[in-house]
Amino acid sequence: MKLTFLSTLLAAATAVSAQQSVPFTHPQTGLRFQSLTHPSSASSFGIALPPAGGPSNEFIGQISARLTSGWMGVSFGGAMLNNLLLTAWQNGNSIVHSLRLTPSYGNPAPYTRAGPVVTPICTSTQTNSTHWTFTFLCTNCNSWTLNNGQPQSIDLTGDFQVMGYAGHTSQKPTSPAQPGSAIPKHLYQGQFGMNFQAARVQNWDAYKLCQTSGGGQPTTSTYTPPPTTSTYTPPPTTSTYTPPPTTTTYTPPPTPTPSQPTCTVARYGQCGGSNYSGCTNCASGSRCNKQNDWYSQCI
Ligand SMILES: *[C@@H]1O[C@H](CO)[C@@H](O)[C@H](O)[C@H]1NC(C)=O
Ligand SMILES: *[C@@H]1O[C@H](CO)[C@@H](O)[C@H](O)[C@H]1NC(C)=O
Repeated sequence: MKLTFLSTLLAAATAVSAQQSVPFTHPQTGLRFQSLTHPSSASSFGIALPPAGGPSNEFIGQISARLTSGWMGVSFGGAMLNNLLLTAWQNGNSIVHSLRLTPSYGNPAPYTRAGPVVTPICTSTQTNSTHWTFTFLCTNCNSWTLNNGQPQSIDLTGDFQVMGYAGHTSQKPTSPAQPGSAIPKHLYQGQFGMNFQAARVQNWDAYKLCQTSGGGQPTTSTYTPPPTTSTYTPPPTTSTYTPPPTTTTYTPPPTPTPSQPTCTVARYGQCGGSNYSGCTNCASGSRCNKQNDWYSQCI
């Protein structure tokens, strides 16, 4: 039953994207992940989960991208919109990161509500000669709240989750030192099936300290600064504000054409005659009847 359900989900994810997570052991720490690498950018995202019965609100994540990359981000719920996002990039010797949420396509705003917390771990192993790597403990990242107050969540105790990634291979965020900086629009993105079942690891408390029983201890890598090849190119100003078309210009109501005098002559009153200059409209139900040249009467 459970396997059937998982297979169905995997089939569903296959429809979204053929990509599925695979096992990956981070050589510098020995931490094991279920991970997906985007082929052309060589960016990757991996997850390690507590064993069954462990905390249901924690995971260890790892984002890595080339030293020349602009930024890399992941969506915990798969799609860009209304899912908790994590963006990260290298700035000097450190990795800058921020949680974000967006209800619309455009620069995702930082997520400012209480709850999810990203804590960097294994910070001494953030780079090798080709990539930066950001390893973090995510606490309460499985639930978030939309701007309209609606709660959202993913189930970290489940077997499977569709997740997403996006990034830019060269353009850094506008203000790379600021976690909440605007980021240039992603150059690549996709969704993939993350196998939670295979991502569970033992020794969770040790993992959170970046230690594995069988793997290596964190190594203090000598930092290699990235080649300073990229003169900064500001992101294209994609969203210049266009005021909405002024569709509703006010049209004043037509000025009524001046109507005839609104006087009426009661029945049997005078309504005409050669010297008569008064009202000529007979009251409703009567009409002006000429009796002679000098006198007409409403009858
Ligand atoms: C550097 O780290 C990345 C991410 O873990 C890995 O894919 C890559 O093979 C590593 N490069 C070297 C030269 O070890
Ligand atoms: C109509 O008016 C003229 C000029 O004021 C007057 O001479 C004439 O007598 C009047 N006729 C009647 C029938 O009142």
